[in-house]
Amino acid sequence: MPTLETKVDGLALPNPFVIASGPPGTNLNVISRAFREGWGAVVAKTISLDASKVVNVSPRYAKLYADGGKEIIGWENIELISDRPFSVWLEEFKKCKDEHPQGILIASIMEEFRRDAWVEIVERCQDAGVDGFELNFSCPHGLPERKMGSAMGQDPEILEEVCKWVMDAAKKPVWAKMTPNITHIEDPSRAALKAGCHGISAINTLRSVMRVNLETLRPEPTVEGYSMVGGYSSTAIRPIALRMCMEIAALIRSEFPGRSLSGIGGIETGTHAAEFLLLGADTVQVCSGVMKSGYGIVEKMKEELLAFMENHGFQTLEDFKGLSLPYFTTHADLVKRQRARKALPRSDGEWSADKFLDQARTLTGEK
Ligand SMILES: Cc1cc2nc3c(=O)[nH]c(=O)nc-3n(C[C@H](O)[C@H](O)[C@H](O)COP(=O)(O)O)c2cc1C
Repeated sequence: MPTLETKVDGLALPNPFVIASGPPGTNLNVISRAFREGWGAVVAKTISLDASKVVNVSPRYAKLYADGGKEIIGWENIELISDRPFSVWLEEFKKCKDEHPQGILIASIMEEFRRDAWVEIVERCQDAGVDGFELNFSCPHGLPERKMGSAMGQDPEILEEVCKWVMDAAKKPVWAKMTPNITHIEDPSRAALKAGCHGISAINTLRSVMRVNLETLRPEPTVEGYSMVGGYSSTAIRPIALRMCMEIAALIRSEFPGRSLSGIGGIETGTHAAEFLLLGADTVQVCSGVMKSGYGIVEKMKEELLAFMENHGFQTLEDFKGLSLPYFTTHADLVKRQRARKALPRSDGEWSADKFLDQARTLTGEK
């Protein structure tokens, strides 16, 4: 029987399915629910030292539907980080670890560009017993107005400095969460890994405008007649998330072997998870999928991933981590391979992919 158990940065997870920072990890009540339902780990909603600066508005979601309005494929939000007091969060972290000592609880943290603030938030969360940290360098709306979130994540120099402050104070594994709102996601990822972070989480939401209401002529979500650019998530972003994870995994392989990757973006089934793992992720995170279908989806996701493994004879996640990475190449190389295949004499026997590949490799000099 294959197993989903895995060890990432020293943390023992019963499975690679992690609740992503957001509404599904917004207080002790729902975090406990996630552990009870069998999630491998939980990244709590992002917190900061002074919640009084965080003021949310309503409505803050807008959705894109397919299948005649039945299925949500895109989800935009203009939600900020947690507006609950830091002291309440510390109490809840402590209680959570008392109630679920085996549950892997990761604090998602965000602060202004001040060393003392980052060190304080790390030390106090650590004292409350969290198992690890995710640094939110990626929230694309609201917080960047205070030079936080993706404003830091888009500047590799600033990001590297903040990661160094955190790494000096942290005694637990640290993942840096990347924004996709940047041309080359390898640049901030490299900066975080250079500073010593254990791993990268990617991606956060994509900057988006959901729609313009053709009756009111106002963009949505509309708050007192106005709107702002929001963050786009759910299944529609999965191909972009896969591409960015592939690029980060390639960077980790070539420059930082042994560091970890947590894939995020539009993951809602076990087969989606398999794709991220095949491209080099160690774990996968889910936010919109839980908001759409509830915490119970993890059961089906686990079954689907196990079925995929059984089908291919994989016993552990390690058996297929990054297995599809070598099959990315350049366009010129694709042309060379196709020319080589077309130059082959027509085979009398049955078409066999393996046979063609073998012959193509001989022709291109790889063999
Ligand atoms: C309503 C909402 C709130 C979110 N809040 C946070 C947050 O506080 N911190 C964070 O790092 N990411 C936050 N995210 C981003 C998610 O963690 C995740 O990176 C993104 O939604 C893509 O994954 P998904 O397609 O599974 O939702 C939020 C996403 C949504 C939809």
